[in-house]
Amino acid sequence: MSEEKIDWDRLARLRKRFLEIEEDPGVYWDSAEDLAQYHRFFGQRIGWKWKDAIRQAKQAGWRLRSNRVVDWGCGTGIASLTLLEEIESQGIESVTLWDQSRLAASFAKDALKTRFPNLTVKIAEESEFKELGDSIVLVSHTLNELSAGVRSEIKKQLIQARQLFFVEPGNHKCSHLLIEQREGLIDQFRPIAPCVCILACPMKLEVNAHHWCHFFAKPPVEAFTSSDWSRFSRELEIDIRSLPYSYLALDSISLDSEPDNRNSSRVIGRTRQHKGYTNLLSCDRNGLNLYQLQKRDNPALWKTIKKNKCGSLLTWTSIDGDRIREGGPANTGNH
Ligand SMILES: C[S@@+](CC[C@H](N)C(=O)[O-])C[C@H]1O[C@@H](n2cnc3c(N)ncnc32)[C@H](O)[C@@H]1O
Repeated sequence: MSEEKIDWDRLARLRKRFLEIEEDPGVYWDSAEDLAQYHRFFGQRIGWKWKDAIRQAKQAGWRLRSNRVVDWGCGTGIASLTLLEEIESQGIESVTLWDQSRLAASFAKDALKTRFPNLTVKIAEESEFKELGDSIVLVSHTLNELSAGVRSEIKKQLIQARQLFFVEPGNHKCSHLLIEQREGLIDQFRPIAPCVCILACPMKLEVNAHHWCHFFAKPPVEAFTSSDWSRFSRELEIDIRSLPYSYLALDSISLDSEPDNRNSSRVIGRTRQHKGYTNLLSCDRNGLNLYQLQKRDNPALWKTIKKNKCGSLLTWTSIDGDRIREGGPANTGNH
């Protein structure tokens, strides 16, 4: 793939299409060349988000407990490719691809077979989604293309799965679409990450409606050293240093997963650094709270958070009003 010529005009056209996309756009993949160019740049960036989301989920106690992977709205297959790479494809019997574009599903199948020649890869007919009992279903960058009717319809399919893993763009709209899925699935599933509890999502409250649940992945070094990525950034006016995303990993309640995050808090988005103090948005069983950490109250913790040394899962052991006094990285035993 990397030897193929980069078609900057095509990439610009694809970007425009995705910026303008509305729900229910119909089948839009026109050619294998569109898919190849998408996969090489946009797909790779999505893969970096998946890597970060899987790392975060593992830190919260998530592990793969399914033999089969279903990549729903697979596009070029970056979600299943990245998952398999991250778990070194251990224990996976098959990947089933579903996309309303047959062209996309075939591209994804080829990409998976090239990377994992011994893997069984199937392209699904929609009607096959009846036996998801031992599957993990991946949904990536797709919810905002589905009509309300389809979003509610897929819930009926997803509910049969053993595990679900969503990664979506880190903007307000997509995060709230993901929260809608969470709230619709919460009776049958236990959120493993980023949520630290099973209570209703506090972002659904009117007072919090302007917030959205998002995180930032770190692009690999090549994003900063390769001339292709620097031109990509210039031509398409994309800041490649910033990779916001939303995610949600859920296990079926039948799995009885008990991640030990009950006393932890999730820091949402970026912390805001000011001279001598940091503001941060923290989500846990006490809801969504804006806290302040003064450097003079706890210099060590302040430095850890400022340098983003411990990820977004933390434990506050002493809070006074809206001021954090004591805390540290969550002790999940999964670091
Ligand atoms: C933005 S692309 C994302 C592709 C891939 N999951 C990724 O993360 O790169 C959205 C994909 O969802 C597919 N899609 C949209 N609506 C769909 C539907 N109702 N059923 C199945 N696939 C759908 C599109 O064809 C497209 O491949």
